[in-house]
Amino acid sequence: MTGRTYLDHAATTPTEERVVAAMLPYLTSAWGNPSSIYAEAQEARRGLDAARRTVAEILGAKPNEIIFTSGGTEADNLALRGVAWAARRLRAAQGVDAPGHIITTAIEHHAVLHECEALAKDGWRVTYLPVDGEGFIDAAALRDALDDDTVLVSVMLANNEVGTVEPIAEIAAAAKARHPRIMVHTDAVQAAGSLALDVDSLGVDLLSIAAHKFYGPKGVGVLYVRGRTPFAAQTVGGSQERNRRAGTENVAGAVGLATALRLAHDERAQRNEHLISMRDRLLDEIPRRVPDTIVTGPTDRSRRLANSASFAFKHLEGEAVLLQLDLQGIAASSGSACTTASLEPSHVLVAMGVPEEYLRGSLRLTLGHENTAEDVERVLEVLPSAVERIRGLSPAAS
Ligand SMILES: Cc1ncc(COP(=O)(O)O)c(C=O)c1O
Repeated sequence: MTGRTYLDHAATTPTEERVVAAMLPYLTSAWGNPSSIYAEAQEARRGLDAARRTVAEILGAKPNEIIFTSGGTEADNLALRGVAWAARRLRAAQGVDAPGHIITTAIEHHAVLHECEALAKDGWRVTYLPVDGEGFIDAAALRDALDDDTVLVSVMLANNEVGTVEPIAEIAAAAKARHPRIMVHTDAVQAAGSLALDVDSLGVDLLSIAAHKFYGPKGVGVLYVRGRTPFAAQTVGGSQERNRRAGTENVAGAVGLATALRLAHDERAQRNEHLISMRDRLLDEIPRRVPDTIVTGPTDRSRRLANSASFAFKHLEGEAVLLQLDLQGIAASSGSACTTASLEPSHVLVAMGVPEEYLRGSLRLTLGHENTAEDVERVLEVLPSAVERIRGLSPAAS
């Protein structure tokens, strides 16, 4: 849309033209079913195989460790269920009745949290690790929570609301030190655009990403599953994805995801430099220009996502700020897109212990590499008067 400033890249990103161009042949000419035998199908198969190889190479994985999914939610659900059910069956075969213990954090995306709730209803024990005031997990807390029944640890690589980058390598090492059979999953959906995702450096057994967070198409994601991870398929039917996720593959989507991931990987250094300069200007200036504002998330900016600036305004409804910004042509968010319809304060800010009077006043500005310094100046110009206007109207303002 012309004349608009889009600052909600954590919700989704535009699909890059180079990505669309790479996908197009798989929608127009090479549209065959990759499982079939004839020429049209083989072209689709080659596209799918090449996409899988690209993703594997960038993750430092093997092609047969890549499962294409319908997005981040499915990848997260599948990671947890796939490991939990496989472990349950192994344990049952050894005569252990209890399904097992899962450790996650209080600040995960609902794709993980709601899956954990579902597993808890089916008998799994779930521990939610607390975070500190900046959203960091403490590896020592993880060590205390691990026990003989722990089968899975799932901790996000970067938080979608406040941009905190978790010390995953340290967390994975702590879990493996307790027992190598404890599987470690990371939700890297927000991290994929700006952080390196080498699965060996991260030390993880499973990792989720979604193409639409890094300029790829919507409706396609990847779950990486390290070879030999005990894993139970959750969608059954055909033998696609090596029997781990049945159903005719989204070939064009997989090609789009791989192309977008390749671009994000190859252009990361220059994109991040630009993102960080814009982010830092927002982080520096907004608390200076808007009274009674706190920055949420890490104070050490090297531990925050390159594109993420998040704030909370005292005695204010974040939604009111978003409406004012929208009227002025700026698209932003109060946090996770999935909770904007709910009136509950963000579970992430609550877990971080953000003071009550700031809890409902959150604003998340997430940049993209197509944003410009002018976009940032526009927000800095519009936001202070927008907040002032709302505070002038609000009886709670002080
Ligand atoms: C951290 C995180 N995990 C998972 C998801 C879900 O991804 P998708 O919308 O592709 O299902 C999101 C989406 O916002 C996210 O931010």
